Amino acid sequence: MKTKFVYVLLVVALMLALTPVASAAPNGATTCDQDYTVTAGDWLSKLSDKFLGNVKAYFAIMAQTNYKNAEDSSYAKVTNPDVLEVGQKLCIPSKADAEAFLAKFDPNKGNIDLLFAKPAAGQLLVGNWWTSGGEFAGINGVYELYKKAHPGVEVVHGGIAGGGGVNFKAANLTKLQGGDPFDVFMLHAGAEVEQYDPAKYLTPVEAIVEKTQGSVMPEDLKKLLTYEGHIYTVPMNIHRGNVLWVNKKVLADNGLKTPTTWDEFFTVAEALKGKGIVPLSHGGANGFEAAQTFEVVLMSYAGADGMAGLTGGTKSWSSPEVTQALETYKKVLTYTNADRNALSWDQATKLVIEGKAAMNIMGDWANGEFKVAGKTDADYEGVPAPGNKGMFMLVSDGFAMPLQAPNKANAEAWLEMIATKEAQETFNINKGSICSRTDCDYSAFDTYLKSSAADFKVSRVLPTITHGSAIVPSWQAAYYDIIKLFEANGDVAAAQAALVQAAKDAGAATP
Ligand code: GAL
Repeated sequence: MKTKFVYVLLVVALMLALTPVASAAPNGATTCDQDYTVTAGDWLSKLSDKFLGNVKAYFAIMAQTNYKNAEDSSYAKVTNPDVLEVGQKLCIPSKADAEAFLAKFDPNKGNIDLLFAKPAAGQLLVGNWWTSGGEFAGINGVYELYKKAHPGVEVVHGGIAGGGGVNFKAANLTKLQGGDPFDVFMLHAGAEVEQYDPAKYLTPVEAIVEKTQGSVMPEDLKKLLTYEGHIYTVPMNIHRGNVLWVNKKVLADNGLKTPTTWDEFFTVAEALKGKGIVPLSHGGANGFEAAQTFEVVLMSYAGADGMAGLTGGTKSWSSPEVTQALETYKKVLTYTNADRNALSWDQATKLVIEGKAAMNIMGDWANGEFKVAGKTDADYEGVPAPGNKGMFMLVSDGFAMPLQAPNKANAEAWLEMIATKEAQETFNINKGSICSRTDCDYSAFDTYLKSSAADFKVSRVLPTITHGSAIVPSWQAAYYDIIKLFEANGDVAAAQAALVQAAKDAGAATP
């Protein structure tokens, strides 16, 4: 079955112009036990069963074929194990070679560098979790730019699926601790860096940040970057986390207007529910969806100063605004899809794209999904979530470089590139974010992104709790668990008591 290929790890087509002088395969000389030409109806697990007696050995065929391709381009380059083309020439390893390969290779641990040849100019292993349609479209544009600027380097997309980094972060930490890191990996601006023990594992990058975008970076972002005297992430965007996504047709067909307050939201939601339409799609499979949606609701009650107080330890989580937010969130949940825990954030977005739900609250990476689906202003809009006007939840993506990055020069070139205006304009137009620099040209960006760029300038900017900017990882993890449990049991008092305790445990000196 093709579905056997649905692994945690998504390996995607990312090959640079091949250098004929590529060195030997990572696992030694490339010898094929036999060649095979793909015919209609072939897929890799079927072939691995046929030639190696093991349906699960398909990654060995993929790797061996890729190594061979680096020496002889008549062999195929297999960048996605799900995709074979008729006529491609494959290099089938011997059973012993396949077993030796599989003993070393574990896609769940992210050692996908083994699937590709290591050309003389080396690889660039890019660790991230950008595997949804819009996310990959964003990063792939930057890969293309990098490939042009650095022909001969093999760019490997180390995309470990799971929105918000739910699977990536633990795998990345294990790789860092094991001395087998990516060359660069996705890291949010702010407190998230703490979980990677930066003094021990990461390269300070303040010189690169200063040189490349220091003079054009918005202050709200800049002040988030320094951790214990150093900067460890080079930002490449600014996402807005507090957005309501609306299927315009669903609302218009029902004579309804986009809500701007929770009261309006409940009126609209009730009308839709009465007609059997899901008012608000909601995910849960990636763990962060509940945390983020509650954060948005909390912002509407606590306001910008209140949020700063809650995360900064000057306002107690026992405050009435937190109670109100929990109560409202509980009510919001009654207007969501019953299968929410089974859906990832992008599957929830898809319900809105397809008109199966009217609205969704999500960061503006959702904009990338609408774009990939070919949707335009006529179909959807992204506006501040109810009660969130004037506030901008900042989620900034960037990359860090491990001290033990195997391809340091390539990694440094990547960090320099992602900071540029050109790379950021290329990335953000598809990713659904704005630049981490103030000099980008938004004329080619869509209506939503133009509005985000304009709002960013005039809003109070609040670093995200959910995506690890405003609070330390241990507190963030406790916050996730509390809101997830709250979604299941709806116990306002218990959730609030746990939020108070979590702040206390994190050392937030609440009054
Ligand atoms: C966030 C990240 C975004 C987006 C989202 C969903 O943490 O900042 O870039 O990828 O997760 O996966």
